Amino acid sequence: MKREKFGTSLGAILAAAGSAVGLGNIWRFPIETGQNGGAAFIIIYIMCIILLGLPVMISEFLIGRYTHTNTAGAYRILSKGKKWRWIGRMSVFTGWFILCYYVVVGGWTMHYTFLSATNAFNGVKSTEFGDVFNQFVSNPWQPLLWFVLFVLLTHFVITRGVQSGIERYSKILMPTLFIIVVFLAVSSVMLPGASAGVEFLLRPDWSKVDSTVIIEAMGQAFYSLSIGMGCLCTYASYFEKSTPLAKTALHVCVIDTMIAILAGFIIFPSVFNIGMNPNEVGVGASLTFISLPNVFQQSLGEGSLMSVLFSTMFYFLLFVAALTSAISLHEVATAYVSEEYNLTRHRGAVIVTVTVLVLGALCSLSFGPLSDIQLFDRNIFSMFDDLSGMILLPIGVMFISLFAGWRLDRELYHNEISNHGDLRTPYFRLLIFSLRYAIPIAIAVVFIDQILR
Ligand code: PFF
Repeated sequence: MKREKFGTSLGAILAAAGSAVGLGNIWRFPIETGQNGGAAFIIIYIMCIILLGLPVMISEFLIGRYTHTNTAGAYRILSKGKKWRWIGRMSVFTGWFILCYYVVVGGWTMHYTFLSATNAFNGVKSTEFGDVFNQFVSNPWQPLLWFVLFVLLTHFVITRGVQSGIERYSKILMPTLFIIVVFLAVSSVMLPGASAGVEFLLRPDWSKVDSTVIIEAMGQAFYSLSIGMGCLCTYASYFEKSTPLAKTALHVCVIDTMIAILAGFIIFPSVFNIGMNPNEVGVGASLTFISLPNVFQQSLGEGSLMSVLFSTMFYFLLFVAALTSAISLHEVATAYVSEEYNLTRHRGAVIVTVTVLVLGALCSLSFGPLSDIQLFDRNIFSMFDDLSGMILLPIGVMFISLFAGWRLDRELYHNEISNHGDLRTPYFRLLIFSLRYAIPIAIAVVFIDQILR
């Protein structure tokens, strides 16, 4: 059967950007920036993106496009022996593992979009938002229902195929996301007292920068770019041979970073507008589902049309960001199952969806009926989150980098990245240096640092 391709290069960029722009951009990056030195953190982050993230992204693109197959197959073909082929399988596993908990949060974003649109936060006191969230996630049925709906939506897009599914929806969803981000950022910046929020986000404070901050910037860059888990490699297997790899990767990095910074412009002006201490808003779920609904109500007027509109758009934005990332994670596993086991795409997708429904349900229930199941002081959800983010992801990035730097034939690498001599590649030596030394050493240092703590 003929393998599908993306129909246009814009479609390819938007699909890859859809994978990169996700919850990480909105619920982690702004807070990390604000607390770790503002513009100083942004500069370090951008350096991590350029020096560490971009080379790995280009390599993943190259590996996918060259082999035109799923991630596990790609590494098998290129490793030519047994030694390196497990990297591909590990990437697929990591992507699937992340998907299992990511979709649970996707369900939460749908629920909060619904609550915002129906003005359900009207009348909730500032101190009660924590209870609203905790009661929701610990309820055995409600989060489960939203989670199932979110998984089915992802499944629906995947089964439509590459062009009519992933590409088509990326072309609709990504511009929508961009318009919402800009609208919300502009509205937020126009609030009284917003300038203090902008200052908090952007004022460079180098005294806050230490090794921990650099490590955080690096981890965030990897996660945010969706590298190390087969997403970009799988998407690139649908690229045309003429797609300029380095340029496409650069576009994705720019879009991803821009959205992350704009998310800061949405959050902090509102936080400062109501005089809240930005160090107390929390991060991740507590920021997004406890602090922010309160912030939006207070800054825009409780129950007012503006607060309904603003918070509905904000949660819808999160939903879209999570959906396009979940689609890319699902595709990694679907391509793997269907191609490696010779199944139809449809059947492959069903198998992935069923496994995600089972494991995701366990993650979802781990805030309620299954909360007693703990390992290393973590519930099932946190185990999935931490194991993938803190261990599988950095190891994956490190080995992809070593593979691309040491195992891949240099000439093959150069031919592919220059499209057989059509494109200039003045950065080539720096790229190889980064892959061989800078990235593996940087990740090893982070690991040792974590162990010694
Ligand atoms: N990059 C996404 C985010 O920032 O939320 C998360 C993600 C998606 C990670 C896809 C990994 C991945 F393969």
